[in-house]
Amino acid sequence: PKVYILNGPNLNLLGQRQPEIYGSTTLADIEARCRELGRELGVEIGFFQSNHEGQIIDTIHEARHQAQAIIINPAAFTHTSVAILDALNAFDGPVLEVHISNVHKREGFRHHSYVSLRADGVIAGFGTHGYALALRHAASMIL
Ligand code: DQA
Repeated sequence: PKVYILNGPNLNLLGQRQPEIYGSTTLADIEARCRELGRELGVEIGFFQSNHEGQIIDTIHEARHQAQAIIINPAAFTHTSVAILDALNAFDGPVLEVHISNVHKREGFRHHSYVSLRADGVIAGFGTHGYALALRHAASMIL
């Protein structure tokens, strides 16, 4: 079984970008932790990041045939993208939404998520640890 972990715009800058909000962990650190946990849990990991909405949509389409679950931090597209919601609606397995920061504690425009209309679960405000929590849950849903 395989889990796709998708990351949206600006998350390539984790560790450098607003560390007071997002912390000092880099995306490469998150990927390494997820791969290690994946080995422990017995799930394969596909790990992706893109700043381009269309590329994220293409990867969700690919997941239809390649993965049993999706973990997605859509970043700013969370609050804007009907197209990512539609792509996730074409995916059959569990979808878990992750936000590093507690979006509900922040600006009003971050309180609404299109992706939450599809997500089976949402983690926000647990820092980068949220990815590992989501991965454990995804594994428990597909194994
Ligand atoms: C984020 C929260 C979003 O509102 C923001 O646009 C991001 C990151 C988070 O992980 O906390 O880029 O998804």
